[in-house]
This record gives sequence, structure tokens and C-alpha cells, in this order.
Amino acid sequence: MTQSELKQTAAIKAADAVHNDMTIGLGTGSTVYYLVEELGRRVQEDKLQIDCASTSKRTFEQAQQLGIRMHPLSEMQTLDLTIDGADEIDAHFQGIKGGGAALTYEKIVALNSKHNLWIVDQTKLVSQLGAFPLPLEVNPFGCQQLIDRLTQEGLHPKLRYTQQKKLVKTDMNNYIVDLHLEQIKHPHLLADWLDHQSGIIEHGLFLDLVNEVVVGQASGPKVIA
Ligand code: 5RP
Repeated sequence: MTQSELKQTAAIKAADAVHNDMTIGLGTGSTVYYLVEELGRRVQEDKLQIDCASTSKRTFEQAQQLGIRMHPLSEMQTLDLTIDGADEIDAHFQGIKGGGAALTYEKIVALNSKHNLWIVDQTKLVSQLGAFPLPLEVNPFGCQQLIDRLTQEGLHPKLRYTQQKKLVKTDMNNYIVDLHLEQIKHPHLLADWLDHQSGIIEHGLFLDLVNEVVVGQASGPKVIA
């Protein structure tokens, strides 16, 4: 099976957790794309009744086009369930997100959900976080000074560009800086330090947030809780 097919099997399996009258947070990325397709199909064919908030414009538009009822997060109570992708997950369910530059909204939605479920293909499971560059959403104002400070701290920051060599901009028109760390030995210490740096709007360390993971693997999707 291809990586995309593994993502799709995880996404379709995770959709089993969605039932009538639930409020759902929809994540962002290629795995979530399949989830939204499946939920859209159930809304149209099975008359599934759900109310959703999104973590990005992309997901919002996809879901709305499929007839899923979408709302601004601020107009909803705590969500019953958020389903999102991830870039890395370790054995303790600590993770890195933000490969799709949606980390700030993703974290806000996750923090406002009773239950968080991640959907990944098997390549995302790691023994230690950090091979995937850690994304930061940063304010453009003073961005170069922030990068200099991160460099001095030995965190190997790089501004993220598109393949067309344009600066990546988030839904809030901020920039993404990726920290090329190779390994993160103390995720909580790093998260705490990053939380206190002016100019960093959010970082992609999602710690102690996820309750359940559905992993797409060749033998079939596996639920880990
Ligand atoms: C977006 C994210 C994504 O959930 C993460 O990058 C995984 O993406 P994909 O499902 O395309 O592999 O954090 O900001």
C-alpha cells in the first residue's frame, strides 16, 4: 500500500468515532483530507448530523463544499472530539505538528476538545521526536532577530519557503520557522522555553494532548489508546 492509502485507511477508521449530534474539530493535512471526504459522504448519504470547527481555511472550505455544517470555533462550546494528523508521535503520545503550517489553530482547537484523536500512517511513529523539523509560527515583525536568537541557542532555525521560493504564510499571515534539531531529548523543557520567547506565536510540540491514535499500516488500521 502507498503512504496515501495508509493515511486513507486510518482516516476512514477514525470516522467511526463520529456520531450524530457530536461537535467535531477538523484538523488539517492530507490525512485529514480523507477524513473530511468520508464525513462529507456520511452527511450526504447517511444524513449524519454533526457541527464542526476547522483548524484551517483549507479544511473549512473542503468541509463546507461537502455539506458539513461549519462554525467559527468561538461560537461553539468545548468540542466533543477533534481528529487531526501529525508529523511525528512517540510512544508516550507526544507529537510534532505543523507540517501544513496550521499548528496554531490546530493547538487551539485541540485544547478546546474533550477528546483528541490523531490519524497517521505508520511512518509517523518514532522512538524520539525531532527528526521532523519542529515548526514555529512566528510574527514577521522582528523575525530576523528571532532567528538570530534561535541560532545562538543552537536550535538551527530555517524560514520555510514554498517550492516556488516564496515565504510560507499561515492563515494568520505569519511566517513559519522550522527548527532542524534531529532529536529532542527533553520536549517539555524545550516547549516551556519556546512558550516564553516573544515573537513565537506557537510551536509544534503537542504534549500531553492526544488520547488516541489510529495508525494506517499494511495489515489494516490499528487503534492505540
Ligand atoms: C498541519 C499538520 C498536519 O496534521 C501534519 O503535517 C500531518 O500532515 P499529513 O496528514 O499531510 O501527513 O500538522 O499543520
